[in-house]
Amino acid sequence: MNQPATGTPSQFQPQDILNPAIMGREETMYALFDHLRSTDPVALVEHPEYRPFWALTRYDDVKRIGSANDEFLSAPRTVLVPEEAEKMFLETFGTANGLETLIHMDRPKHLKMRKVTREWFLPRSIQSLEVEVRELAKEFVDKMADMGDHCDFVRDIALYFPLRIILSILGLPRESEETMLKLTQEIFGGQDPDMQRDIKSGGGLQVLHDFGAYFNDVIADRKINPQQDLATILANAEVDGQPMDPLDQMSYFIITASAGHDTTSAAIGGGLKALIEHPEQMQLWRDNPELDIGAAKELIRWVSPVRHMVRTATQDLELHGKHIKAGDYLALWYPAANRDPEAFESPNTLDLTRDPKQQMAFGYGSHMCLGQHLAALEVACFFRELLPRLDDIKIAAKPEWVQAIFVGGLKSLPVNYQMR
Ligand code: HEM
Repeated sequence: MNQPATGTPSQFQPQDILNPAIMGREETMYALFDHLRSTDPVALVEHPEYRPFWALTRYDDVKRIGSANDEFLSAPRTVLVPEEAEKMFLETFGTANGLETLIHMDRPKHLKMRKVTREWFLPRSIQSLEVEVRELAKEFVDKMADMGDHCDFVRDIALYFPLRIILSILGLPRESEETMLKLTQEIFGGQDPDMQRDIKSGGGLQVLHDFGAYFNDVIADRKINPQQDLATILANAEVDGQPMDPLDQMSYFIITASAGHDTTSAAIGGGLKALIEHPEQMQLWRDNPELDIGAAKELIRWVSPVRHMVRTATQDLELHGKHIKAGDYLALWYPAANRDPEAFESPNTLDLTRDPKQQMAFGYGSHMCLGQHLAALEVACFFRELLPRLDDIKIAAKPEWVQAIFVGGLKSLPVNYQMR
């Protein structure tokens, strides 16, 4: 049930953190986080549709709990989904998470599974993709110019550029673009009325089945026709000398295809909005192209597309006066951490010269985003290509946000512009 966003911070309740209408709008989301961080940084959230959890909104807490991976586990409950959906997943897949991907695992399995693709995502491997990423960025910036003087930047450009890169890395054909876009949006935008399938009424299961059907064909093909692509690595991977378990393998495909797409689209879409709203920062980057990866990471901090991950405590602890018991769940809210005034000077100011190491959008610890170097490269390459060709740009109509509490961002950003 999507309730409308409520008004002033004093009216906020901890359970508003589960309200996609509040979380799906930049202003209300950050107002809620500011309120919780200053009044109740370890807030108990009780909601009729979700199992209870503690909401952590301070940078130091998110960093500490997120990186103590042996004390605070990822497996039991990784992302907040309604209890009804968890039950359905448990019955069908034997896990309340529905999937068994890297983000859902703990040591020692997590390390073994991460090793399968680690090489692919190291900075030196990602650097070798730079030429391809730049070419694709140019293709999409050309497309924007070809569209004349206006487009919906998110729907026409930002959604497709990271998707094409992921398809290319996996070695999947361009014709898969629409299928993958739809499935990814459905898996992440589960609560948004525009994303069609309602996670609580079994839609989540169907999305997983559809992903499965698509990737089963890819796996069968790469077993007999190996290529130089990530799909071949995943299709033929062995763990402890045995072929990878089919659920693990399917989950690996799904996380690689989905984690790298909506997140980076959100960073580019929200990133352009931020630059339009801070024209002096746009000019700064245009005049100083060497800001590059650092500037890209500031945009990623600003947008923080992954809203939360959950950890489960293995022992009792006390945090800011709250008694957390072994078995309790702690949700780490990355956008809240990324705007914590104790961690960042003027956190609500976009500053492309900020130290990029501190931002928390990729998480921290042994689960820290595997694709972070790729994501930063994509954002940097895109704006490196766009900014010198852009003479003028304005927001043409009210931007719209995805109503989601897991991966969020813009779903529409109409813009008018003059380009070379
Ligand atoms: C994990 C954020 C782009 C692949 C994560 C986590 C976060 C995150 C917060 C979880 C960390 C934790 O649990 O501690 C982002 C953001 C992105 C982005 C903000 C874009 C701006 C990508 C890309 C890929 C990717 C391009 C490439 C395929 C993954 C994978 C994991 C992950 C495979 C699981 C790692 C593990 O659990 O060991 N990401 N991500 N992500 N991300 Fe990203």
